Amino acid sequence: MCAVLAAAAASAAPNHALLQDKKAFIDDLLGQMTLEEKIGQLRLISIGPDMPREKIVEEIAAGRIGATFNSVVHVDNRMMQDAAVKKSRLGIPIFFAYDVVHGHRTIFPIGLGLASSWDMATIERSARVSAIEASADSLDMTFAPMVDISRDPRWGRMSEGFGEDPYLVSRIAQAMVRGYQGDSPARRDSIMASVKHFALYGAVEGGRDYNIVDMSPMRMYQDFLPPYRAAIDAGAGSVMVALNSINGMPASANTWLMQDLLRKEWGFTGVAVSDHGAITELVRHGVARDGREAAKLAIKAGIDMSMADTLYWQELPGLVESGEVSMEEIDRSVRNVLGAKYDMGLFHDPYLRIGSPADDPADRYAEERMHRADAREAARRSIVLLENKNRTLPLRKSATVALVGPLADAPLDMMGSWSAAGRRESSVTLRQGMEEALRGKGRLLYAVGANVTDDKRIVDYLNFLNWDEKEVLQDPRPPAEMIAEAVALAKQADVVVAAVGESRGMSHESSSRTRLDIPASQRALLEALKATGKPLVLVLMNGRPLDLQWESANADAILETWFSGTEGGHAIADVLFGDYNPSGKLPISFPRSVGQIPTYYNHPRVGRPFIEGKPGNYTSQYFEEKNGPLYPFGYGLSYTEFALSPVVLSSDRMGRGGRIVARVNVANTGDRGGETVVQLYIRDEAASVVRPVKELRGFQKIALAPGETRTVEFEIGEDELKFFNARLEHVVEPGEFEVQIGLDSQSVETARFTLR
Ligand code: NOJ
Repeated sequence: MCAVLAAAAASAAPNHALLQDKKAFIDDLLGQMTLEEKIGQLRLISIGPDMPREKIVEEIAAGRIGATFNSVVHVDNRMMQDAAVKKSRLGIPIFFAYDVVHGHRTIFPIGLGLASSWDMATIERSARVSAIEASADSLDMTFAPMVDISRDPRWGRMSEGFGEDPYLVSRIAQAMVRGYQGDSPARRDSIMASVKHFALYGAVEGGRDYNIVDMSPMRMYQDFLPPYRAAIDAGAGSVMVALNSINGMPASANTWLMQDLLRKEWGFTGVAVSDHGAITELVRHGVARDGREAAKLAIKAGIDMSMADTLYWQELPGLVESGEVSMEEIDRSVRNVLGAKYDMGLFHDPYLRIGSPADDPADRYAEERMHRADAREAARRSIVLLENKNRTLPLRKSATVALVGPLADAPLDMMGSWSAAGRRESSVTLRQGMEEALRGKGRLLYAVGANVTDDKRIVDYLNFLNWDEKEVLQDPRPPAEMIAEAVALAKQADVVVAAVGESRGMSHESSSRTRLDIPASQRALLEALKATGKPLVLVLMNGRPLDLQWESANADAILETWFSGTEGGHAIADVLFGDYNPSGKLPISFPRSVGQIPTYYNHPRVGRPFIEGKPGNYTSQYFEEKNGPLYPFGYGLSYTEFALSPVVLSSDRMGRGGRIVARVNVANTGDRGGETVVQLYIRDEAASVVRPVKELRGFQKIALAPGETRTVEFEIGEDELKFFNARLEHVVEPGEFEVQIGLDSQSVETARFTLR
């Protein structure tokens, strides 16, 4: 055992002098490792509940495992680390990873929800809280942030990401990495970020999970790659490689992606981990004849760690022996693994996040209680008010409210998918939140009204996916009876609040949909409620844009709440009763129908654009329905009103290297305080390649008191005008630009300038 690690194993202070030079330290260690020990470092194994612990400990002690994931229990992780540090020949620590995607114990809104806040401080705080809780649970790495741009709501994993726009998602990627890693991934209360899924996973064809991606390089560079780059530039120590192929080559065997782009062009020096079983899947992609070839392709491409995949362990020894894989290729990956462990602080102290048995918390949930206020704040800020006819909202607390719908009292759905160590008992449902808000003042009547779906195929699918055996319980009563009960309550109430949408399993990995409507069982309930003539408020819970044509025409108010996490019930009640004025804005366009997909706002220009109000013949449109989204990117209402002045530019000319300032006055013309997001879009009028109709280039979230007016300024320089040309150079070209400022992407004030 090397001196430094021996010292750590003996629990004495490790030799910091030797540790100071990372490269020398890793070289020294590498020099002592056998091939078997090196390959062991490349294995990232999943710890299942039924796996025999003795067997795992034995493997770790033999130096055959580099890291684990899915084990969140101190005692288990300490036992495994003991095996690594005190029993293995070289005493190299292992690290512990987990999918901490939108919270660990305290669950924050899903990605689309966090993105709807457009509030970088809140988003960063959610990741910081996640890191504090996850590190306290002995974890060193999270498989997050998930920054896959997605423009196809059929894709169930869209829920985990932050929407359709490269600029917004890049800003969020940076905030998340800062939150997880703090000022260093070596801090006791930091966890290393593994940005995923590199790359382009959100662009799977047809929105069908695991499908191929076929995309022009220009589009990749312009729209889909920037968020991964932003996370890496913010210091993410790890990258998780996507399961999909890209232009004919799976990401896990893609030398261009993993080396030319990631390592050479972007200078990434961290560790690249495969996704679950991805190396074995190279055979099914049809680029490897067998497991041996798959392992060879992956290690050569630069997949450092294999996640839950046995091929490296089985095949690399033979491949090295035959000379098909060189020792340098193995060493390159081992260095990256050891480097990540070094950066996590594990060579300085392998028990940094595990602590000693005496430190084990008596109450593992104390922290979760501490972070409830953060979760409530994030959840209220992530809610988007889509409709509010005749000022139906906010509701009076003295009212009699009928709360109905399958999601009104659903603690697990409230947390959304990938809810890490979140607990059903901690999750506040809408029913609980509204009961508390009305207590001593108004009255809450409750009926479930419908199942999420009665479609047997979907129920079977969700049951199969089930995380928790009680999760997809169907109410066995006939649908008509359930609806009748809800209608009877509605008739006694002043207003009806219907919590409808998707169960969390419907917006999850592999949960791709062909339709975007609210399932038929719930629609029937809504139609019956509408027929009562009572004001109808919809609280939507879902992990993707839905087709809301019927709902937008028939509901009096609609709140998009996504899956809002542990404190969701309180947060939604805060908004329903006006204790919080909604300020969320959509990070993704809502299509009118599945047939319109993709509906993203920043689409490239065409030669025959459809123009609203003009005949559609021979223009780029669908003739059967209104064109454009139902709710555009950046859209969201408030309980107050805001007015924008025309845009004033500091100059109508910009010299090379210069800057101009765009100013707009924003006034709160309503009768209550509120926040809104002022959005800057730029349209390049003519360029050497086809450019988008507009692109988000800045935003500011501001709070205004009733009657208050504020001047908002955006500085525009060459960075805001740059794009990737046909040679993939990031350039700015002289010419005319239109500046657009608005409170959503569609209704904007404009001004023009020329870049000389
Ligand atoms: C597969 C998913 O694609 C990935 O996002 C996740 O991190 C891993 N499984 C580990 O759970």
